[in-house]
Amino acid sequence: AFVVTDNCIKCKYTDCVAVCPVDAFFEGPNFLAIDPIICIDCALCQPECPADAIVQDSHLSQEQIPFLALNAELCEQWPNITAVKPAPADADEWNGIANKLPLLER
Ligand code: SF4
Ligand code: F3S
Repeated sequence: AFVVTDNCIKCKYTDCVAVCPVDAFFEGPNFLAIDPIICIDCALCQPECPADAIVQDSHLSQEQIPFLALNAELCEQWPNITAVKPAPADADEWNGIANKLPLLER
């Protein structure tokens, strides 16, 4: 499955959801998660993310590995999202900031 990682936090551009053929994205306050059971590994979402936050599970860095379980967990709690919506006003300022996990809202 593909996994949403740290740089989505507080960026949440949502371009990714427009291309997913199986509606695998779920939305929290400042992050999106992919349901690993629904994801069919088509890879279409990866190049759509302006924050380069989407990574295939087999390519996760050591720091990104916790996001695999986190995506699965959050998808069970959050609603499905299938339409693009405006990013947070300060999204571009947060794009590229490292280690945003403490800022994740649930
Ligand atoms: Fe959806 Fe394909 Fe991305 Fe998986 S890899 S979340 S199926 S667009
Ligand atoms: Fe997040 Fe990138 Fe989608 S910032 S909401 S994974 S387009």
